[in-house]
Amino acid sequence: MKIIAHRGASGLAPENTLKAVDQALKSEACAIEVDVYRSGDRLMVIHDRWLHRRTNGTGQITRTSLQQLEALDAGEGEKIPSLRQVLERVAGRCDINVELKGDDTLELAHQVIDYACEHYGFSTDQFLLSSFNHHLLAQSRQLRPDLKLGALTACLPVDLAAFAQQLGAYSINCDVDFTNQALVEDAHQRGLKVFVYTVDEEEDIEMLSQWKVDGIFSNFPCRARAKTGSKVS
Ligand code: G3P
Ligand code: MG
Repeated sequence: MKIIAHRGASGLAPENTLKAVDQALKSEACAIEVDVYRSGDRLMVIHDRWLHRRTNGTGQITRTSLQQLEALDAGEGEKIPSLRQVLERVAGRCDINVELKGDDTLELAHQVIDYACEHYGFSTDQFLLSSFNHHLLAQSRQLRPDLKLGALTACLPVDLAAFAQQLGAYSINCDVDFTNQALVEDAHQRGLKVFVYTVDEEEDIEMLSQWKVDGIFSNFPCRARAKTGSKVS
């Protein structure tokens, strides 16, 4: 079972910061998930559209200049990193899952992925582009059929994993609270991987192992690796 560090190793350091990325790398997670919003011509790594929960700023990220963002504290003296900074840090060490937030992040994400492949030695295969915004995933599929897509869901869909297959996704990325064995089996029958978020409880890990899910997002990747006996891959 793959262990994916959720927002970096966000149980150990402020989420979506370079410190959380470093902790995830130390944990030898298979991949690191980060959330991105657009600010001007840059993708910034942050989960919320509003700045107040995770930084000492206020207002919306999409309406704040880069200069203002760079002055904010994202916890423990960390800054809000750009996606490029994260990729530079991660290059050659593990895979990356970029979760697109907002509705204007796709084009820039494709550009940053191209840049990372050219300059940091990534292969396209090392990226998983995911979103709850399935319109973005459908567009990505049209523009870049080579990119792996993760179709996020926070519910148990009536047609189980059919929507993800229709999107041409690589995986269905589902909420642990709405994951059952039928969904996992349906996804597998459709040739989809199943990655489940956010899984930090031992009993959940045991249940999902029995259902043979392909990976879990954990805030404590080191602990999850120990529990699953997952190898670094
Ligand atoms: O990508 C898995 C998970 O991160 C999705 O939910 O709200 O934590 O971005 P959220
Ligand atoms: Mg996320």
